[in-house]
Amino acid sequence: MKKPIRIGLVGSGFMGRTHALGFRSVGAVFDLPLEPVLELLADATQELAAGAAARYGFARAVGDWHALVDDPAVDVVDITAPNKLHAPISLAALALGKPVYCEKPLAPTADEALAMAMAAERAGVVTQVGFNYICNPMLALAREMIEAGELGQIWGFRGIHAEDFMISRRSPWTWRLDPAGGAGAIADIGSHIIGMARFLLGPIDALIADMETVIDRRPLAGRPEEMRAVEVDDQARLLVRFARGCRGTIETSWLSSGRKMQLEFEVIGEKGALVFSQERFNELHYYKVEADGTRNGFRTICAGPEHPPYGAFCIAGGHQIGFNDLKVIEIRNFLTALAGGPKPFADFREAYEVQRVIDAALLSSREERWVRL
Ligand SMILES: NC(=O)c1ccc[n+]([C@@H]2O[C@H](COP(=O)([O-])OP(=O)(O)OC[C@H]3O[C@@H](n4cnc5c(N)ncnc54)[C@H](O)[C@@H]3O)[C@@H](O)[C@H]2O)c1
Repeated sequence: MKKPIRIGLVGSGFMGRTHALGFRSVGAVFDLPLEPVLELLADATQELAAGAAARYGFARAVGDWHALVDDPAVDVVDITAPNKLHAPISLAALALGKPVYCEKPLAPTADEALAMAMAAERAGVVTQVGFNYICNPMLALAREMIEAGELGQIWGFRGIHAEDFMISRRSPWTWRLDPAGGAGAIADIGSHIIGMARFLLGPIDALIADMETVIDRRPLAGRPEEMRAVEVDDQARLLVRFARGCRGTIETSWLSSGRKMQLEFEVIGEKGALVFSQERFNELHYYKVEADGTRNGFRTICAGPEHPPYGAFCIAGGHQIGFNDLKVIEIRNFLTALAGGPKPFADFREAYEVQRVIDAALLSSREERWVRL
């Protein structure tokens, strides 16, 4: 008999839907001791919450997140609301000893992220942050190969997360540009490639960054004749040094014309290299340095049941898993930890470390100098 665990979801947009889908399907994919129950959904208004609750299958809806956090029938608080709400909602939930699953970026600043990590550690509860791309079986394989020394000594990292969803000057000012929620592109999408770099190669201990706001005014949503200043970054370019000794570059932009999901990395080692692109995320490209150069080249490793947990979704290799499946894996990790299993890699402490890199980049760019973390 599985133990029910009642989920309270705050926010029902792009990510709210993905989380709801994940909680609904995780039990069909994985055999878990806990059974998620879609208990309560909160959004900015009762009307928004009621509509989403009906669509996603939540039992109840409420127009105020405080009521959701305080509701005794909510065991776990899941946050997919705009960034500036992550800290207040998380801290309220943690004060009641409730585990929190929160979207990235965890907080507007590293100081706030640290306060959240410490609150979670004091409460002794499980936390999980939405760095779903590292839940990909091919990322687990890449990490395993690096750790096993298959690439030899690591000599370099090239990472990028570029998209083009902000290229139109008519794209309205939204919460993603609200400085109260923290930085711009580097927090919104750059946090993913920073987290991925850390997942693969460990801590970054120094960096120099150049960041810029390219489109410095945007129209207000629904009032296109009124403009609002943009104070956050559109693009960032970082040179980074990893504590393990290798160096690399990390780049991010939401103004990258033609790029839809260019979350990519290249790890270069003495004995080989790995290349990955999120746009073809069921593949990992592996180059092995061999004595006979005549047959050298990158080989494509195709995701299949031999790369767990791919096989939980599909028994046949090459059929591919999808974006929403990465959230299902993330939710599996979270529920496993709630049931007493290993804690998720991307918990609040890890998200704080990612935030430290973002804060260091902001400082470096502002002061035009190297920053040690
Ligand atoms: N992990 C990922 O791959 C990924 C992808 C996209 C977004 N995100 C993150 O997810 C979060 C949400 O992003 P999104 O794209 O879903 O945004 P969105 O704008 O589509 O959805 C935000 C939701 O929050 C609701 N909301 C706003 N104010 C609220 C309030 N006061 N109380 C309750 N609900 C409120 C909105 O009505 C909406 O339903 C952000 O932190 C973002 O960085 C993560």
